[in-house]
Parts: sequence; structure tokens; C-alpha cells
Amino acid sequence: MDTWSLEKIGFNPKDAALDGNRFLCANGYLGLRGVPEEAGPSLFPAVTLAGVYDQVQDRWREPVNAPNGLYLRLTLNGRPMALGKTDPVCHRQKIDYRSGIFERETDFGPAIVRSHRFASMADCHLTLDRYEMRFREDGEAVLRAGVSTDIWDINGPHLSGFAYQGGDALLAHALTGEKGIRVAVAQSLRTEDGGEESVEETEQGVFRVLRRAVQAGSVWTVSVFSAVFTSLDGADPEKAAVKTCLRAKEEGFSACLRAHEEAWENIWESSEIVLEGDDTAARALHASQYHLNAIAPRHSDRLSIPARGLSGQTYKGAVFWDSEIFFFPMFVHTQPKIARSLLRYRIDTLPGAIKKAEEYGYRGAFYPWESQEGGVEGCTNFNVVDVFTHRPVRTYFRDKQIHISADVVYALRSYYEITGDRSLLEEGGARVILECARFYLSRACAHVDDERVDFDDVIGPDEYHERVRNNAFTNQMIRHCLNTALELREVFSDRPERFSALLRELHYEKDWALLARVLERISRPRVKNGVTEQFDGYFDLEDCSLDMVRSRLRDPREYWGGDHGVAGTTQIIKQADVIAMAALFPDVFPDDQLNANWAYYEPRTEHGSSLSACMYALTACRIGRLEEAWKLFLKTAEIDVSGEGKQWAGEIYIGGTHPASNGGAWMIAALGFAGLKMRNGRIEINPRLPKTVKRLRFPVTASGKRFIIDITQAGGKILPA
Ligand code: BGC
Repeated sequence: MDTWSLEKIGFNPKDAALDGNRFLCANGYLGLRGVPEEAGPSLFPAVTLAGVYDQVQDRWREPVNAPNGLYLRLTLNGRPMALGKTDPVCHRQKIDYRSGIFERETDFGPAIVRSHRFASMADCHLTLDRYEMRFREDGEAVLRAGVSTDIWDINGPHLSGFAYQGGDALLAHALTGEKGIRVAVAQSLRTEDGGEESVEETEQGVFRVLRRAVQAGSVWTVSVFSAVFTSLDGADPEKAAVKTCLRAKEEGFSACLRAHEEAWENIWESSEIVLEGDDTAARALHASQYHLNAIAPRHSDRLSIPARGLSGQTYKGAVFWDSEIFFFPMFVHTQPKIARSLLRYRIDTLPGAIKKAEEYGYRGAFYPWESQEGGVEGCTNFNVVDVFTHRPVRTYFRDKQIHISADVVYALRSYYEITGDRSLLEEGGARVILECARFYLSRACAHVDDERVDFDDVIGPDEYHERVRNNAFTNQMIRHCLNTALELREVFSDRPERFSALLRELHYEKDWALLARVLERISRPRVKNGVTEQFDGYFDLEDCSLDMVRSRLRDPREYWGGDHGVAGTTQIIKQADVIAMAALFPDVFPDDQLNANWAYYEPRTEHGSSLSACMYALTACRIGRLEEAWKLFLKTAEIDVSGEGKQWAGEIYIGGTHPASNGGAWMIAALGFAGLKMRNGRIEINPRLPKTVKRLRFPVTASGKRFIIDITQAGGKILPA
């Protein structure tokens, strides 16, 4: 088995949405869905831009899809050689994880089309395609190549005022509706001379129409270069797009390909986990690492990653806690610059978080549950549509999932502890920690006897139970946040005056005095037979099986949570909650209690979120449940190979890639199986290899140096790279 690629034979338009994700090319700046070059909107083509958002009327704000600069469509003797229009004799498509190259080969009978394309890792504005047409009959071939504006949007259209330009590079440019951001896409093309050529501007974009007389047995190849820029990149995106794609054309496809492959080689050198003993697992790990690495912001030092990566507009292209808790670990251990960028994004969006807290009548920083550019809250009050009534359902993720601020603090602290680098705290990180702690001080409810502090009306990671009191996970996260704020004084002990100045600047004196007092009093959860109660009253809910709850569904797409959901009145939970707490705070339970909690909660967990299985797997490693850990590892790592995972929440489409699982797969392998711990640049391992795995070998970066962790069934070593 080739553990470095995924191949699919056959074409079914019904799989187009899923395949667009599984065969995605991306480079952190844009995501190019894995659909054929000739695809119209029904096959969901998209070039999704990182960090560019727009809203149409009162629909959901979402990322902008750029016009498709790699649009190509062949017609032979008047017949379209196009999937979706002509049934192929056979079709094969492939993504190569090592190089991020998408390949397709479609035999339409009269002609075979083959292409290779990629989103350049060497120049993030560029996408390239080499398109080869082999003919089986004589006649006239017409190739339309250009920038297509007939693209897929969920809540669009986002672009208007299109203007086109012909010439050596074709150009389409337009403006987003809400903020007037200019988006420019250019395309140039290289092919052998001969035949006629004209340029057409239509409602669907700007195209070069190339006509050739072809003979059976002949081959015609074109190389296509496309560049995307927006006015967020610079003052003249139109000029930059044209210049960049003409420069690429000048350099040629092969040279651009070499630079791209080299960039990917560097990424793999810093992050590849080699797993020997099970090819399916090795392939799934490559897939996971490919997908997470492909969407990492390498062109910016202050961008984060949306929950569905760059695979489209689902989840509004928003940044969730997924970034800090699930993506961050792989990056901080292998490519700390990217981890830094995720956190810089939160530092920069602190004003948005302060504004959100204010809107709810609190002080401090309440980060958006679904954060868009500048810290805009993308989460609406109605995030689900009821499948029976078709009415929007009031959901409370935005208002009540308050652990988000503490999650940001958790990652800030981890960054400091793992890398030993204090600069991020100095550059605004300390301020974020203090403002998040202040938010919890203002959100806390002191009990009448003043001896206990509750956090009432919250939602924990298990979103099916809304508006609960004292969610164990949330309270633990808050404890950690307040404690981190208090420990800042120690972190800055060599510059006490600077820290005091910060407290003064934030008018923090009174809050500072409160921190320790509240921290001591935060409610502790009830423990029954060694099992921690997920929230006050959870044990009193109906205790029934997952199958029982599933059998009560009247529609497979029905939402399980909220007031009317089938799970709400039961102990069935959506995703790891108490166990997520155990995974993030290894000392919170002794092993026997961890075992009891694991055994209690796992059968009661739907794993209805792709964030769940990895938390159970990580904790399973600790208590020696290695067989279970292995199964959950496969479930996590294979998600973007199989394409499985929930596609619907009520009537809302939520499909896409699953970066949190991708990061989860890295966590299970490195933190779980290898037992990796890094602190202040020091590395420790504590191997717990499932018996199927013969060897696990991977790099980590500590204090700017690279080390190799090499684990076999006989034990583990830490080697200099
Ligand atoms: C999960 C959240 C997660 C979000 C984005 C939801 O289904 O419950 O925990 O942050 O998806 O991945």
C-alpha cells in the first residue's frame, strides 16, 4: 500500500462534496477543492481564501471564495469532455500527501484528460495545473481556459462589480460587498504554438479559447498559472496577480513544481511521524499531517486556522477552540512559529473579546466562540435549523461556551512552558491572560455563604447539554486561567516594575486581590464511585444507552442537543468533556479515577464531534487501554481519508476537512503513544506503543534545535537530528 497517497477510481457527482475535501490542495493562504478543472457550482469548486470574510444581507458571514483561476474545459468535435456533462469511461483521482499534488485522469472515450495541479507552498498566491489531452479521434479540439466566476458559495454571492482584462495574463477582479475588499485572480498559460486563439468575456468570467486541429494519437499539453491577491495583501492586487502569474509562466511549470516540492520536503522534515507496522495507520497519519500542514499560515505571523481549514465555507470559516486545544500541539512541538501565529491572532483580537464581554455586561475578555477577522463573533444566536419545522433553533454556544477564553490562556501558557520563550507574553500575551481572568471574576457567582463560587449557566465541550451549572471542564479551565494570571508575577519576577506597570495600566489592583480568593472557592464537582459529575445534576438525568437515544430519532439529521434534542434529558453526551479535562490536565485524576471516568463516560459518548475520539485515546494511553486507544486513533486519523464524520447539524451542512482530528492524530501518536513531554526546551518520553506498531519516529523542535524521537517495542530514544 502506498502510504503517501489516496486514490479514488470512478466518478459519482453525489460524492463531489466529500471528494472536494479529501482531495484538497492548500497552502495556508488558499484552499483549492479537489474537484475537476471543468467543474461548475454543482460539483462545489472553491478557492477559499484565509482570513477574508464577507456578509451578504443577514446571511451568515463566511470566508470568500475567489474566482477559479484554474478553470479548463475541453470540447472535442462539439462534445464536452467534462465530468458532470459526459459520463467517463473511467476516472481516477489522487492526492499525493508528500507533495500536495492533485492528479486526475479521465477517459472520456474520444479523449483522455490528465492533469497535475497544486497550490504552491513556495509562493502562496500561486496555483498551477499541467493539463494533458490525448486524442483518440481526429477533429477540432477547443479548450476554454480562464478565470471562472461561476463558483460555489454557501451564503454568497460575495463578489460583484466584476471587471476583466485580456492580454498575456487574463484578469478578473471584483469587490466584496461588505467591506469592499478587492479580489483579483489572473491566469496565464503556456502551450506549443499553433491554432487559433481568442479571448471571451462572459457572465461566467474571462476565458481564452484555443482551437486546434488534432489527430487521433496526438497529445496537447498546456501549463496553467494562476495567482490570487486581495487588497489585504497590498495596494494593487490586480497588478500583483498579473505580475505573479506571468513570472511563474516565465519560470515554467517544472521550476515552480520543484520549489513547491522542496517547501513540502522541509515541512515533512520538521513534522513527519513515521509509523511502521501498519500501513493503513501510516497512511492515515500522513493524511492527517498533510491536511493540517497544508492549512497552516506560513505567509503570515498573525493568522489562525478555521475549524474546517480551507476546505470551504462551512462553520463560517471561523476559528474555534479547536485552534488552541487541537491544532496548537503539533505546531508548538514541531514548527513553533506557526503556534506563535495562532496565538498572535488571539492577542491581536483581544479588543474584539473585550467588546464581546462588554456586550454581555461583563468585564475582561470573552473570546468569540466562532472568531472571524479582527475577533468578530461569527456565531449567531440560531446556529441550528430544526429539520421538522425548518425554523432556526436558539442555541447558546455564543453566549455560554465561556471556556473559550480559558482555552486561549491554556495555549498561551503551554507555549511559554514548552518553548521557554517569554516574548509572546511580553508582546500582549500577559495582557490577554489578565483580561481573560478578569472576565471569569466578573462572570463568577458567589454562593450565599460566600464560601463557594459557581459558574452557572454555561455550556461545556458537550454541547448537547446547554445552560448547566458548574461544568467540571469549564471550572477546571477557569481555575487554570486564574492560576496562570497569578503566576505571571513569578514569570516576570526579573522585571517586577514592568509587571506592576501593566497591572496599573489595566486598573487591575482590585481584581488582582480577588484572583486568589475566587480561585480557592471555585466549586468542585460531585464524585460518585470515583466518577466526576460532568455538571451539577448530570447524574440525575436518564441513564440510557446510546442506541436507545439513537432509536428515538425521527430523522437522521435531527439535532441531538438543545431544548428538544433527544440527548438533552439523558446522560448521553456529544463529545469528550470530563475526559477532555483529564487529557488536558494529566494530574487532575489519579489513574484509578481516570479509569473509572473513562469507563463511565466512553459508552455514554456519541463522538458526535471529530474533537472527541482523540481525547479518549490520549487518556486511554495513560491507563494502559492500548487496544481502545488504537481504535480511537484510527477513527481520528482516518477521518479525512474516509471522509466520514457528520455532514449535517439539523439542516445546516457542516462538511469539510477535520483539522482538529488531524491535530488529534498527532497528539495521540506523539503525546499518547510516545508519551512526549516538553518543558522549557527539555524533552521526556514515556513510550506506550500499541502492539501493532513496530516503530514510531518523529522530529520535535526544542529551543530552536531539532531532535528525533525514536520508539520501538524495546523502548525509546531521543536523538539529535
Ligand atoms: C464541536 C465544537 C467544535 C466545533 C468546530 C462542534 O461540533 O462541538 O467543540 O469547536 O464543532 O469544530
